[in-house]
Amino acid sequence: CGIVGYIGGKAAAPILVEGLKKLEYRGYDSAGVAVMEAGKIEVRKAKGKLAVLEGRLSYCDFGSQIGIGHTRWATHGKPSDENSHPHQDCQGDFAVVHNGIVENFQSLKEDLIAKGHTFKSETDTEVLAHLVETFYEGDLEAAVHKVVGVIEGSYAMAFLCRLEPEKIVAVRKDSPLVVGLGDGEYFLASDIPAILAHTRRTYILNDGEMAVLTAEGAVIKKAGSGEVIAKEVFEVKWDAVAAEKGGYDHFMIKEIYEQPKALRDTIKGRFNEDGVNLDEIGIDTELLRKANKVVIVACGTAYHAGLVGKYVIEDLARIPVEVDIASEFRYRNPIINKKTLVIVVSQSGETADTLAALREAQSKGAKVLAVTNVVGSTIAREADSVLYTWAGPEIAVASTKAYTTQLAAMLTVALALAQCQCAMPCSEIKAIAESLKAIPGQVETVLAQADKVKEISEQIKGWDDVFFIGRSIDYAVALEGSLKLKEISYIHAEAYAAGELKHGTLALITDNIPVIALATQEQVLDKTVSNIQEVKARDAYVIAVAQEGNKEIAKFAEHVLTIPRTHAALTPILAVVPLQMLSYYTAVARECDVDKPRNLAKSVTVE
Ligand code: G6P
Repeated sequence: CGIVGYIGGKAAAPILVEGLKKLEYRGYDSAGVAVMEAGKIEVRKAKGKLAVLEGRLSYCDFGSQIGIGHTRWATHGKPSDENSHPHQDCQGDFAVVHNGIVENFQSLKEDLIAKGHTFKSETDTEVLAHLVETFYEGDLEAAVHKVVGVIEGSYAMAFLCRLEPEKIVAVRKDSPLVVGLGDGEYFLASDIPAILAHTRRTYILNDGEMAVLTAEGAVIKKAGSGEVIAKEVFEVKWDAVAAEKGGYDHFMIKEIYEQPKALRDTIKGRFNEDGVNLDEIGIDTELLRKANKVVIVACGTAYHAGLVGKYVIEDLARIPVEVDIASEFRYRNPIINKKTLVIVVSQSGETADTLAALREAQSKGAKVLAVTNVVGSTIAREADSVLYTWAGPEIAVASTKAYTTQLAAMLTVALALAQCQCAMPCSEIKAIAESLKAIPGQVETVLAQADKVKEISEQIKGWDDVFFIGRSIDYAVALEGSLKLKEISYIHAEAYAAGELKHGTLALITDNIPVIALATQEQVLDKTVSNIQEVKARDAYVIAVAQEGNKEIAKFAEHVLTIPRTHAALTPILAVVPLQMLSYYTAVARECDVDKPRNLAKSVTVE
């Protein structure tokens, strides 16, 4: 979910809606705003995309200069008008928007119902409106402090009160919240793009901090005590235009084409005449020297980057690596200690499960390195060290440039470990670093095959199932390719370690079924080719991804998408690109909502 707020000299509603548009990637199954109008709180909300809310607002001539808004991704309660935020108390004196989960909402709700409160929605959030009403004794801030004292869970929330019509009170715990500092106007948002059109000056709230916004200013206080905090202004350096579509049909294809630049930015300055520039990557060298185990934890696409990380760290640095899904790791009492380097990978730096995994690892004495794309994100702030991917804002739900820059970052970590533990001669480290520097240009060559990929997408768009196979590091790429295809085109896709196919899935290979075979790894090429022959023998329609100059593969595949030759550890950055394009063009051909696939959100800040 995403929240926004505004107070200043302009009409609030259009500013709130514009802000929400920039947050739609956080969830988009319903939206709403509350503004203070003629001594009353007016709420307009609607199930569906923001356009539906805009339609409802077009009939209202709200001049109000204060308001809060919300875009929702349903957790408790299905998407509906009633379950949309803002929520209100019985009298309509308060309105609240909330991102997160109130874990003890059921018992709080029962108490409130016993006291005579009636509820209109199935959401956990509605209890917040009723609680603030119960606690209110003429001071909104004091009432919010009390609300914070009784709720459990995660939240970024903002309140309006009819009786204090010139104030917004907001507070955060485990969900992001920023305040924008304008000229006589103040903004509130879950993320920076929502306020960038108005100001670059921000306060980034930490857990347990409260923001009190009036037309006179924004004051940050400690939630619970109200003690004023001297907050530093964070100046946003990146460009608002960078967050827009810039001529492309969708954010996803724009972001696919941004990969050469994103990779150049991520690699820049990280290597020097010694190999890896350890000062620049900022990881404690002592830890790099003594680490005897690496644990990589992440969700979704970032998890797939972690799987590639395992191959490259084990291969280059010869240190054992475990990779875990964050929602599993956090509950399985993992074996880690002071000598374990835990790496959390997260584009947004806000994913709830990944953040919890980070905290779990730290509580067990491990040092955590975050590989993240968002400066100032919660994960970046809480990790012991951070290696940023400089992909720029990624808006499409399906991750592309964040993934390839994560791969470049994982390789950097692998080389840093290899260097610190003398696992490889320096000359070899430098040679791989040189190959990495050549990768952005090689990605451009792969992108130039877009027409061919588009043609292939026409062949697969009508199928219900597609299989991806690969061996070694290609298997990790196959997993990412299949995730890409299923999340945006809704075609069922499965990835298999090519050698595993005969242990079950081969039964599903029938006439013309598309099999996408990754065959970029020289050391297992013969084996992969024989797996391709196995599916070919069952009349599969084979699309291969192979290195340039591989003549053999064309004999068994309907189409071959080629990638330039590079070091074996770097092929994933090239091999995933045709798969990203294939998913994109297939989803477009199927008229899917590419940037906002159903039921998914860009940043999942709930468990
Ligand atoms: C969501 C997104 C995925 C992403 C995952 C992890 O599910 O839809 O694209 O890979 O979260 O997000 P993170 O921001 O932690 O990388």
